[in-house]
Amino acid sequence: MGKFITFEGPDGAGKTTVLNNIINRLKHSEFNLTDFVITREPGGTEAGNQIRKIVLDEPDINIDIGTEVLLFAAARRQHVVEKIKPALNAGKIVLSDRFLDSSVAYQGGGRHFGLNQVLDINRYATENLEPDVTFYLKLDPETGLDRINQLRSDEVNRLDEEKLSFYQDTVAAYEQIIDKNPERFSIIDASRPLSVVTDDVWNQLIAVI
Ligand code: TYD
Repeated sequence: MGKFITFEGPDGAGKTTVLNNIINRLKHSEFNLTDFVITREPGGTEAGNQIRKIVLDEPDINIDIGTEVLLFAAARRQHVVEKIKPALNAGKIVLSDRFLDSSVAYQGGGRHFGLNQVLDINRYATENLEPDVTFYLKLDPETGLDRINQLRSDEVNRLDEEKLSFYQDTVAAYEQIIDKNPERFSIIDASRPLSVVTDDVWNQLIAVI
């Protein structure tokens, strides 16, 4: 059985950049890249990428919050069945940019669908698969929104357009998840320069794998 490692955090925390840096380091390390599966949510599979387009890239489509939760869950189920479980069964290390915690935090907290309701809906999707370790890039909401507005004004998606309160509620939900699962989480202070954050994640990652 391999290892399932996820990366979580609010938008603007630098998760995608840090993950790219980590992948680069893996390529130049003594590790064998074929032992790793690097993936992301929503997406990770062809069906998942189509669902990603509906939930993230089409701001004009009317989507009920329950439908949104189900769409993320549908993409997740395909991801688990098609990609994550087979990789774990083959002994690989799966690194996923987001997983169930994102739905619990964003839809459950940010959009007020309820944390437990999101968990209920996702039970079938994940077949109770849980990450072995989750790196949480921690950032306060004001700093996060500032970063988004400065760095990414050209690629604002439907969810990015939400306001500070959405962001605050999402972060508060993440904190509740962490309180309930302290043994699974590794908390990374993402307010520091991204090179420092990368070093921190890298050191902790190689200790885990
Ligand atoms: P991400 O790919 O991390 O953003 P980007 O590539 O633009 O840095 O995530 C896309 C967005 O999807 C992000 O705002 C979080 C959101 N999201 C949810 O709301 N629920 C979910 O279940 C997942 C997986 C993501």
